Amino acid sequence: MGGGAKMTMDDAKEAELIAAAHAAARQAYAPYSDYQVGAALLFDDGSIVTGSNVENASYGLALCAETVAVARAFGEGRRGGLLAVAVVGPDGKGDGAPITPCGRCRQVVNELAQLGGTDPVVLCVGASEVRKVALSVLLPHAFGPAHLT
Ligand code: THU
Repeated sequence: MGGGAKMTMDDAKEAELIAAAHAAARQAYAPYSDYQVGAALLFDDGSIVTGSNVENASYGLALCAETVAVARAFGEGRRGGLLAVAVVGPDGKGDGAPITPCGRCRQVVNELAQLGGTDPVVLCVGASEVRKVALSVLLPHAFGPAHLT
């Protein structure tokens, strides 16, 4: 999309976003937990930025997929325009219920969302269900950049 046009997410874009999260999960470095997570961020220009979890031999230093995706987006110069986030875990783990971002990741995603004044929908992808929840529902009364001004 050119000319600064803003998009909304239709069914095709949603499917593309979820596919991107699945592809990101395949890039996960998760040898310790064997729990591969992928995250995909959709921006209002239609572009998608992905991340996957990155673990460490010092176990507590693991980086979540959502955090890696947000850091990548900031590194590309993005400071807002976040419309949606898709998160997927590995097949065949747990009960197949949709996974939701951990608490720290909710706060990390919130920074990018509030900078651009959006409340992105979080697509929590499960084995047979995609649960859609607004970030503001996952993280009510969030602390954000506006509090510091
Ligand atoms: N993980 C994520 O990447 N995102 C989440 O929201 C939850 C957990 C990762 C961290 C760790 O590498 C593995 O999943 C098991 O907790």
